[in-house]
Amino acid sequence: MEIDIIWLDQEESTNRYAADLLQRDPEVSEWTTIVAHSQTAGRGQRGNTWESESGKNLTFSLISYPIEIEPAKQFVLSQAVSLGIIDFLSSYSDGFSVKWPNDIYWQEKKICGILIENTLQYDSIKSCVIGIGININQTVFRSDAPNPVSLSNVTGETYDLKSCLTPLLSAVIERIIKLRNGDDFAEEYLMRLFRFHKKTSYRASGLEFEGEIVDVEQNGQLVIKNVSTGDVRKFWFKEVEFMFDREL
Ligand code: BTN
Repeated sequence: MEIDIIWLDQEESTNRYAADLLQRDPEVSEWTTIVAHSQTAGRGQRGNTWESESGKNLTFSLISYPIEIEPAKQFVLSQAVSLGIIDFLSSYSDGFSVKWPNDIYWQEKKICGILIENTLQYDSIKSCVIGIGININQTVFRSDAPNPVSLSNVTGETYDLKSCLTPLLSAVIERIIKLRNGDDFAEEYLMRLFRFHKKTSYRASGLEFEGEIVDVEQNGQLVIKNVSTGDVRKFWFKEVEFMFDREL
């Protein structure tokens, strides 16, 4: 498959660049990928910024047109992309999982963030920008980002970024194509879910509680059972926080 890859030295945000590109050319070829050596205003979830040491990691955005996916079910894209990234990482080591909704973790630490931005038209997804920031060679993290880790931290090796990008893109694209052909990754996503069925602390509405993740709904809501009361509640992103040990 032909993939157009645009390599940029420095850019504000590859997601922003991809969105601008789609505005200028709404039919830009599918899977066009924009990669930046460094971003000056990399965007993260919850309005956060995404920090990455220049030239050490992969920060890129991929354009797709998943018109078969209903907007109400767009969470399936997060599932497919997350599992594609895990497919890639699992060829280097064990221990990777998806922290709901779509952070990629190695053990208790974050190795990759995903920011998917969809443009909707009527009842379908017109275009989709899949932004991926994956820590590859950075070994020291100075930002306030909680518990970061890189592939290099995991394996002790240093990697050629261009050589990593090709198999990573292939793994993600393969999952998206399978999804669009009707595959359902919900079960596999649960099997890969960070802290699935583990009793641990969460915080919601300012209150900490002991809970156990029991499911993720098709619409993306996280389902947690309160271990003390037995109550089961569903949470949207931002409504619940995972608690971590301080020393991590
Ligand atoms: C998160 O907060 O975990 C999501 C981070 C997503 C970062 C990537 S880096 C490439 C792409 N361009 C951006 O501006 N953000 C995404």
